[in-house]
Order: sequence, then structure tokens, then C-alpha cells
Amino acid sequence: MDTDVTEAGQNATNRGSDDDEGIFATVAVIGAGAMGSGIAQVAATAGHRVVLVDPVIGAAVEARQRIEAALDRLESKGRISREHAEATLERLVASESVHELPECGLVIEAVPEDLHLKRRLFADLSERQPANTVLATNTSSIDIDDIARDVIDPERVLGLHFFNPPPVMALVEVVHGEVTSPAFVEHVTALMRAWGKTPVRCASTPGFIVNRVARPFYGEAQRIVEAGVADAATVDWVLRERGGFPMGPLELTDFIGQDVNLAVGTSVWEQTGHDERYTPTDFQRRLVEAGTLGRKTGKGVYTYAADGSVERPEPDLELAGRLVGGPVATDPLARTVAMLVNEAVGLVHRGEASAEDVDTAMRLGVRYPRGPIEWGGEIGFDVVAAQIAELDAAFPGGRYRPSPALTDGSLR
Ligand SMILES: NC(=O)c1ccc[n+]([C@@H]2O[C@H](COP(=O)([O-])OP(=O)(O)OC[C@H]3O[C@@H](n4cnc5c(N)ncnc54)[C@H](O)[C@@H]3O)[C@@H](O)[C@H]2O)c1
Repeated sequence: MDTDVTEAGQNATNRGSDDDEGIFATVAVIGAGAMGSGIAQVAATAGHRVVLVDPVIGAAVEARQRIEAALDRLESKGRISREHAEATLERLVASESVHELPECGLVIEAVPEDLHLKRRLFADLSERQPANTVLATNTSSIDIDDIARDVIDPERVLGLHFFNPPPVMALVEVVHGEVTSPAFVEHVTALMRAWGKTPVRCASTPGFIVNRVARPFYGEAQRIVEAGVADAATVDWVLRERGGFPMGPLELTDFIGQDVNLAVGTSVWEQTGHDERYTPTDFQRRLVEAGTLGRKTGKGVYTYAADGSVERPEPDLELAGRLVGGPVATDPLARTVAMLVNEAVGLVHRGEASAEDVDTAMRLGVRYPRGPIEWGGEIGFDVVAAQIAELDAAFPGGRYRPSPALTDGSLR
């Protein structure tokens, strides 16, 4: 998604070259799927020798061909020169065996989201690579310490959470586990900058920054529609046209896939010990159970024509006008933003990320019009706290709990 974001990664032409002779000279990327091939392209573009590994026969070679085609497209658009495209491709080697890797400064794992697979792979890599090789995972949801469990020298394990597609999306979450060495985090953060990326740092907390803070964007809208306060098209209209979000929450979940979005939400819910804040909605569960997964199945919240165009009812603008600025429980914008602010300040309060990094992550990772903490400051953190208290009174049960950071003055 978000393919209209500037191709920031492509501007990094050879800026990683300071590291060419240093410890990061050779980068291995394990897993040549959607993410691994994109990450390999970014690393090779930045000047590294890259070994792209996938045990499926032909997968890494095919990924290299896709990268070649992507470089050709960039060249035809005048974004890179022929020489640069050729040199980038020459630096990229496809391989079918992790056991044949040269010594690397950095290994980035992008295999399927399976803890046992990743844990085994990291243990194996840690035996074969020198003690100062950084072992990074592109996991979107698994705890870094769990992946590092059987690793020799686990202080070199960290998360490098790229967004899809990696050559286009500037944001990278640099995730540290309990024992990750701050020096490695520092090195890798600098390296991501050299690759033309915008790194943000966070602890290995469920959902990291983006997938955690974004939960209420989907959940509040689903609850408002489920309660019959407003229809989906009106809620989406309010968030888009009044809130400035690039897409409304309901159309966005159709775009992502209701099943994919539900899986991310369920993972955060389970990892937080079934915190009521992240309880999946019946609204979304029903959509998934019915196989109405969104665009990819032709039907989700909305219906889609064969060419992908949406058949969306007209929003009820008169209703929208009445809801926005009214009681927070029925105001899709105020309710959503209050909960986004609450999630964001919660991360900072728990010491899991800085306010600046949370705001940067939400602007770049999901293109929010403003960082939620900056937004909360504009609204007034005390006002947000009062809005959440109002929501708690309307919907008791623990879902609407203001973070202490909203009232303790620490954010002013
Ligand atoms: N797709 C996304 O939008 C996205 C975004 C951010 C992070 N991630 C994370 O990135 C990782 C990869 O996701 P993806 O979408 O690229 O998956 P994918 O299914 O497209 O690719 C995974 C690749 O790994 C290969 N593979 C399987 N076992 C392997 C092994 N033992 N060694 C090496 N390669 C192996 C597969 O053959 C496949 O080519 C996952 O952890 C995912 O959660 C995905």
C-alpha cells in the first residue's frame, strides 16, 4: 500500500558507501518474498554487497529478476542511471543456502512469521556468523527476545521492521529487546539513515509503534458502525474529510484485508494479556467468518467491482455534521483521535519510545496527517483525558482508560 509515497529509499544512492569497507560491507537477507526482495534492493542500492537467500528452488533468483525489473523502471523514469542500476544488480547474489553465507556485518531475516522457524534460524546464524554480526529480524509482531532465545551473543539481535514496499516506504522501526546492545542499535540506526530511511526506535512491545498505536483507528470506527450510530461511508467520510486521514478506517481495512487486520489486532490483544482495549470487534470477526475480506474477495465492508472500483453508498453529510463536535461517544473523529493520543502517550509513558519517534512513525508508517502526540498537545492533554473519561462513563468495562501521561504533566 501507500505506493504514492516518495521513493525515498532510491535517493540513497551509495550513501551507505562509508560502510563499504567496514563491518557492514556484506549484508545477507534471508527470505526472498515480498519484504526480503525489497530490503535486498534497498541494501544493494545503498552500496552493499548483498546475498539474498531462500531455500525454495529458484525463489531468490526470481526475486533478483524482480529487483532487476524494478531498477529498470527507476532508470526509465530517470531516477537512477544505467550504470547505477547495473552496479546495484552486480552487488546482489542469489543463494539457496544459509550455510554458504560469507561473513556478514548484518543479516536481515524476512522469512514467514513463525516463531519456531525464526528462533531456529537465529540460533543457526549465531553459530555461523562472527560475534559482532548484527542479526536483525523483520518480524511485524514477534517479541525480539523470544527470537533471540537460543542465540549465542543475543545482544546483537534486534528488529528492523521495514514497511511494505521497502524501497518506497521511508520508515523503519529499529526494535530493541531486553538484552540488545545499545551500541548495535546506534550503529544500525545510523546505517538506516545512510540507506535514506527514517529510523525510529522502540522497545519490543506488542505491535511496536505503528501496529500498536493504530489499533483504535480501526476499532473505534467498527464499534460506531456496529452500534448503529452511523453507517460506514459516513464514518469514513468524517475521518477522511474532517480528520485529514488519507483513507477512512473501514475502507482501509477492506484494502489491507479484514483477515490481515484482524490477525494483527488479535496478536496485540493476546500479547497484552487480552487487554480490553484491543478486543477484536464482533463486526470484524463476522466479516472474516463470512469470507468478506475486502477488496481481494470483492466484498468486505463495501462491495467492489471486478476492476477493483468501490461501490460505496453516499455519506450522510447531515448526520456527519450533527455527530462531529457533539458528544464524544458518537463523534467518530474526537473518539478516534482521543484514543490514538492515549495509545501514543502510553508508549512514551512506559518508556518504550520517544514522543518524537511515535509521531514520526505514525506520519510515515500510516500517513496520519499529524503525529498523535502533537495532535494531543493541540487539543490539550487534559481535554483528551476528559474525553476518555466520558467514553468510560458511556462504555464502562476498562476499555477506555486514560494513560497517566495525559494528566501527570510529563508531556507539557
Ligand atoms: N508483507 C508485509 O506487508 C510485511 C510488512 C512488514 C513485515 N513483514 C514481516 O516480514 C516477514 C516476511 O514477510 P513477507 O510478506 O515477505 O513473506 P513472504 O511469504 O512473501 O516471504 C517469505 C519468504 O521466506 C522464504 N522462506 C521460508 N522459509 C525460509 C527459511 N528457512 N530460510 C529462508 N527463507 C525462507 C519463503 O520461501 C518466502 O520466499 C514476516 O516476518 C512478516 O511478518 C511483512
